[in-house]
Amino acid sequence: MQDVPNLILIGPMGAGKSTIGRLLAAELSREFYDSDHEIQDRCGADIPWIFDVEGESGFRDRESAMIDELMDREQCVIATGGGAVLREQNRKRIREGGTVIYLFTTVEQQLKRTAKDRNRPLLQRGDRERLLRDMFALRDPLYRATADLVVRTDRRGPRSVVNDIIRRAQR
Ligand code: S3P
Repeated sequence: MQDVPNLILIGPMGAGKSTIGRLLAAELSREFYDSDHEIQDRCGADIPWIFDVEGESGFRDRESAMIDELMDREQCVIATGGGAVLREQNRKRIREGGTVIYLFTTVEQQLKRTAKDRNRPLLQRGDRERLLRDMFALRDPLYRATADLVVRTDRRGPRSVVNDIIRRAQR
């Protein structure tokens, strides 16, 4: 798979963006960038700290700046945070940045995969299932509107997802 554009992974928390992104990049011998990790490295603090001190809007500003920067890279695999599609400017930049893949999962899977999570401040704000269902209702249409491909991650392992992405992104 030579001379492909960036492959950009979008989707909700617990969809497997980081795991699948790392495997996909290794398979294609490409660099992998994870927007959340880049933000944390740049800031020298973790995401809960950023939310605590700067609020969600402070985090979103950092996220928009990072997306802007990452979309200028070439031939990479890039994973974005689950809320990256909330801002119209981000959706536009993501679409300009390459082939966009929506990693779809169900709320049931998200509940399992985020059960012991303390690093996602948005899940500490009340009943996790309610929070995830509300996020799904708001964000699923935004992921679909931004993506070139929708790939399910809830019924199979990451290797099978990676193979599917490689096969379908080549078309
Ligand atoms: C968020 C998802 C997180 C992280 C932040 C906010 C969201 O990324 O960016 O906690 O709004 O859904 P992951 O999707 O990688 O967990």
